[in-house]
Formats: sequence, C-alpha cells, structure tokens
Amino acid sequence: MDMSFIQSLFDISGKVAVVTGGAGVLCSEMCNALARCGVSVAVLDISDEVANELVERICAAGMKAIAVHADVTCKSELERAREHILDKFGRIDILINGAGGNMPQATTTDKLSFFDLPEDALRAVVDLNFFGTLLSCQVFGRTFAEQGEGVIVNISSVSAFRPFTRVSAYAAAKAAVVNFTRWLATYMAQSYSPKIRVNTIAPGIFITKQNRYLLIDESGQLTERARVILAHTPLGRFGEPQDLIGALIWLCSNASLFVTGAVIVVDGGFTAFSGV
Ligand SMILES: NC(=O)c1ccc[n+]([C@@H]2O[C@H](COP(=O)([O-])OP(=O)(O)OC[C@H]3O[C@@H](n4cnc5c(N)ncnc54)[C@H](O)[C@@H]3O)[C@@H](O)[C@H]2O)c1
Repeated sequence: MDMSFIQSLFDISGKVAVVTGGAGVLCSEMCNALARCGVSVAVLDISDEVANELVERICAAGMKAIAVHADVTCKSELERAREHILDKFGRIDILINGAGGNMPQATTTDKLSFFDLPEDALRAVVDLNFFGTLLSCQVFGRTFAEQGEGVIVNISSVSAFRPFTRVSAYAAAKAAVVNFTRWLATYMAQSYSPKIRVNTIAPGIFITKQNRYLLIDESGQLTERARVILAHTPLGRFGEPQDLIGALIWLCSNASLFVTGAVIVVDGGFTAFSGV
C-alpha cells in the first residue's frame, strides 16, 4: 500500500486551528487529534481550567496548543481572541465551531410545558448554538477572506433533521447552523475564494455533560429516552468522541477539496432508520 499517498491526501501538519468549545467532551478529542496531526491548536472556551489542563497535556506530549478565553456569544471577545491567536501563531487556517449545547431550563418536562419555558433560557440556547457559530464565522471568516483560504467546520446535530422531543430551541438552532453553513459556503466561495470551504458535522448521540441528565438516571441506569435512542440506532451504541475524528480530518484536509456546504452525519445510522 502507498502510505505516502494517503498521508499527503490528509496532511494538515503545520496548519493552525481554532476550536471553539475546545475544552468540551467532543471538541477536546478534536483538539487532541488535530495536535497529533501536527496542527497548532487554539482551545477557545469559557472553561479556563479545563482548557488549561487540556493544553498542558497536549504541550507535555510535545505538540502545540494554547488556551484562549472567549465567550462565543460576544463578538468583541472573539475579536480579541483572534488577535491573540494571530500574535501567537501568525495565521489561522481552520475554524471548528463546537461551542454549543442545550440547557436544562430550556427543556420541557412533565411539569413544564413548552408554553411556560422561560424566554431567557430559550434565547440563551439559540444565542449559544446559532449566534455563537455565526459570530465566530464573522470574526475568523474575515481572516480567511483576507488570506484567500481557510476551512470552517460547524458542529450541528442530527436533531437539526429529526428534532428530539423536549429540546425545541436546541434543535431549531442546530437546524439554523446547517442552513447558515450552506449560505456561508456559497458566499465565501463566490465573494472571496474557492479555497475557503464551510461544512458541518452533524453528530448523532454521544453521552456528554450537556445531555447526561436526559440519558442516565440517578441510579446510573439508562433512561427510557436513552433506550429508545439505542433501539433507533442501527449500529446499536452511542457515539464515542473519537468517532468524529475521521470526518473532521477529512473536512480539514485536501482530501475534501471539492466539498463545501455539506453536512456529514456521524450517527450510527440514527437518521437512516425509519423505526421499522
Ligand atoms: N453530545 C452529543 O450527543 C452531541 C450531539 C450532537 C451535537 N453535539 C454538539 O457538539 C458540540 C460539543 O458538544 P459536547 O457534548 O462535547 O458538549 P460539552 O458541554 O462537553 O462541550 C461544550 C463546550 O463549550 C463550552 N462553551 C459553552 N458555552 C460557551 C461559550 N459561550 N463560549 C465559549 N465556549 C462555550 C463549554 O465550556 C464546553 O467546554 C456542541 O455544539 C453540541 O451541541 C453534541
């Protein structure tokens, strides 16, 4: 087998990546993987302690990373972060928009109907998942427009296509991310450069901080909701963070040079299965 051919196709070494929500469960795996591919990684997050620990581990293994504090819902913080990253690494080639998640306050329950969900919680979920992605694309996309090249990978969810019960604002915001990805892919290619590509990964269900309360009960057992998900997942398991890495590296590398505006679903077949 010609390994050098495969290596050159997927080679992203020497690039600089910004990963928003980089300290989270899924995106910390992405930061590690990118660093292992020779990428300098800016872990952008509001959880400073976790981000710092991750960066320490990456650097201790001889790879390059910095932690950058910024709230993705605040454009001026993102702009400050961009200047800091450009100061440290000189350029930015890859943007992963992973900051996101649902909030228990924006989730219907037996006692809280959709009609009574607090407006501030609904707005906060849309703000984080949709505006957090849009603002980040504005700020870092400007650098890509100036450079004439760059890769953006937004993180949506299968709930964009098959809205999950109980999390209305989250599903709607993730659907907006898919729509916006297609818009931005067209805009960047037509207005700036065909070397700027914008795609989305739509993960299936992974047990992480943001959804654990819906999937695992107080005694540590799977909830009824979790059992239904597994029964509707042909591959019969929840995703593991490393399941996203193949799609991520492909989208960041020249192996996907003709791919823009695409949604790559990584869900164990969840969206393919009709239930019968
Ligand atoms: N877990 C799943 O099953 C699943 C499925 C589909 C999509 N996703 C999406 O994948 C992404 C990562 O999810 P995860 O499960 O790893 O979540 P996570 O909660 O582990 O990670 C989210 C990270 O985002 C950071 N963050 C939150 N608000 C922020 C803000 N305003 N500014 C900057 N950073 C902020 C958090 O500190 C955290 O480190 C999210 O966009 C999520 O919606 C998750």
